[in-house]
Amino acid sequence: MQTIFQVLHRDHDVQRELLKNLSNTHGDSETRRSLWEILKQELRSHDKFEERYFYSALLFDDEVQKLSRHSISEHKKIEDHIKKIEETEFSSPGWLVHLKNLKSLVEHHLDEEENEIFPVAGQVLERAEKNMLARKYKFEMEDSFAEQVRH
Ligand SMILES: [Fe+2]
Ligand SMILES: [Fe+2]
Repeated sequence: MQTIFQVLHRDHDVQRELLKNLSNTHGDSETRRSLWEILKQELRSHDKFEERYFYSALLFDDEVQKLSRHSISEHKKIEDHIKKIEETEFSSPGWLVHLKNLKSLVEHHLDEEENEIFPVAGQVLERAEKNMLARKYKFEMEDSFAEQVRH
């Protein structure tokens, strides 16, 4: 049975791959447009359900509460960057500049979650809770992608 850490980690790797592939796109292409649509939804859904099913389970613990708040504030920064890219033409040279800024921000965020938050959270959550949160998170993610092909 999967834990919440395994399912979050898997989706982090999906984000890393999409960011890497997007940073190799050029101009207004179908690839850039379709990868961007997928990445945008991955980021928004992941951040929303990670807050709902992971961070909400940690807020009662003083030790991890501060780390959780910091992480949630980074989700807000990620959303601000997404909006900035949305306002930029796919053909503009600025698009890739904004995308690379988003890439750095997201990669920093994912590394911090995996290296600093997950190990501490692992001590706080019970085993059954880790499995239950994974099921809830996965159900919501799959539901939000029901209309799209997800890899
Ligand atoms: Fe996050
Ligand atoms: Fe995450």
